[in-house]
Amino acid sequence: MPSFFAAIPPAPADGILKLSVLSKADANPSKVDLGVGAYRTDDGQPWVLPVVQEAERRLASEPSANHEYLAVGGLPALTSGAQKLIFGADSPALAEGRVYTIQTISGTGANMVGAVFLKQFKPQRDAAIYISRPTWGNHRSLFQTAGHEVREYRYCNYESLDLDIDGMLADLRAAPPSQVVVLHACAHNPTGIDPTEAQWEAIADVMAERGHLPFFDCAYQGFATGDVDRDAFAIRLFAARGFELLVAESFAKNMGLYGERTGCLHVVVANAEQLPAVSSQLNRVSRATISTASAYGAKIAGTVLQDPALYREWLDNMQTMSARIKAMRAALRSRLEALHTPGDWSHVTSQIGMFSFTGLSTTQVAALRDQYHLYMTDDGRISVAGLNSHNVDYVARAIDAVVRAPPPAL
Ligand SMILES: Cc1ncc(COP(=O)(O)O)c(C=O)c1O
Repeated sequence: MPSFFAAIPPAPADGILKLSVLSKADANPSKVDLGVGAYRTDDGQPWVLPVVQEAERRLASEPSANHEYLAVGGLPALTSGAQKLIFGADSPALAEGRVYTIQTISGTGANMVGAVFLKQFKPQRDAAIYISRPTWGNHRSLFQTAGHEVREYRYCNYESLDLDIDGMLADLRAAPPSQVVVLHACAHNPTGIDPTEAQWEAIADVMAERGHLPFFDCAYQGFATGDVDRDAFAIRLFAARGFELLVAESFAKNMGLYGERTGCLHVVVANAEQLPAVSSQLNRVSRATISTASAYGAKIAGTVLQDPALYREWLDNMQTMSARIKAMRAALRSRLEALHTPGDWSHVTSQIGMFSFTGLSTTQVAALRDQYHLYMTDDGRISVAGLNSHNVDYVARAIDAVVRAPPPAL
């Protein structure tokens, strides 16, 4: 019988998922997995935040607890708390009623609801989505799946491993007017390289000049520097300058709710009168794709965001995570420098957030995997959260060995 499906080619392999399969199959005791973007304790274990455990205890003891559907917009305790977290409690945009927030399936779902919404309502019918080169591995696929044309702007200077601000500004300036520009709010994935406050101002200048619409992806607020306000700097700057904008927010990393799929999409509009139409369209998109968002993670995050004592405890828990990651950056750099590993390793400590873009080549990454059971993405990105006091020496020695190794004969 002829098949409807016979002509379908296989999808390209997802680098991160492929890496995770390889790493799981490797039983060598020296194995170190620096591929997965998830926080690990110093013993290499997942961490359920103490504040999340407390919120779960409270939820479990509520006599009225149930598993009913949430409303289409999501759980108000989450969406209202998330708005304040992103824009600040004193945000003029919030006070003026110019923000709509819808609960989503974590950060990915927030990006997707925004992408589907923009496919129908973007500023110019033929506007493209501009993503940074490089960016989170899912951005291109996600926006293309929603039907957009995707283009890139320069972001990383691959020689010096810092921000190519001139290239970025030139590309944003050269783009046709009124395009959609995806910006990482903080802790850029995969590079860990963020613009300085002055560079954000310059980016905002060009975005305003060209009439581009900012679409912030905010997957690491508080996790990046340990300070939720500092990590929201760029979003609040653009909001204060009067931009309309979108923000995809994830609670996967900063609350450790990875699998609970907890997030929000925020949309800021110029005039409050536009909000009923915009919010109803966002609700329609979400209803058509997921009907209603997941309840359990939202109840946990909502409880934490609404209770002042739990909120303070959460800030402490985030400090614990970001401080351990910073300590591991310093440990890796100091070991590489002590070994006199060829190259400049200062970027390991200047980059922030979960990832470090090491500058290792694909050949070196493959050698680390095959000879040292050390797993990282092909672009040389490591999840610093996978380093700990037990493996950092080994990781530094392995990197030192492959950096010194003569290149393979052709
Ligand atoms: C930049 C960026 N955006 C979005 C996400 C989506 O995360 P999630 O869907 O787990 O919230 C991630 C996760 O790694 C990310 O790094």
